[in-house]
Amino acid sequence: MRRHVVLVGLPGSGKSTVGALAAADLGVRFVDLDVVIERLMGRSVARIFAEDGEGAFRAVEARAGAVALEGPPCVLAPGGGFVLDPVTREQLAGSALTIYLRTSPAEAARRLGQVVGRPLLEGADPRQRLQALLDHREAVYRESEQEVTTDGLTARQVADRVVKLARDDAAH
Ligand code: S3P
Repeated sequence: MRRHVVLVGLPGSGKSTVGALAAADLGVRFVDLDVVIERLMGRSVARIFAEDGEGAFRAVEARAGAVALEGPPCVLAPGGGFVLDPVTREQLAGSALTIYLRTSPAEAARRLGQVVGRPLLEGADPRQRLQALLDHREAVYRESEQEVTTDGLTARQVADRVVKLARDDAAH
């Protein structure tokens, strides 16, 4: 693999599950950015949001992401808000194959089940919150180089498509 694979999409689109499967097949490191942030900060994402605010979380997220992108090619599963930062998008351009895991809010809500630990989804009906996030983010998500529609597919099936896209990318 000559560049990173970065998975893009809503919470519940399968970034973490698919990313781990794809990285194993591709023989590269898997980086789950929320896990990296939690380790760095010694607190859960939910607590960072509650105690420091979303702005502080976004700053740490951008920094931790930049560090991962400076390393050897990996499969990176960041949180769904990572690519909203224009500086991050600039860094991704060229250095990463971005793949949008396109998922309907209804399917994402089903996969997430009862939402715990996702501060942006708590309180209201998760499907409605996911729809609002998608309305706001979809244009940016669709700037990704590739897209895999995940509704009705298993994580294994989505991962197989991601692996094929990564291998095709590496062959060019
Ligand atoms: C967020 C998604 C979460 C996490 C944080 C913010 C977002 O990750 O980074 O709660 O803005 O979409 P997942 O996409 O893995 O749920």
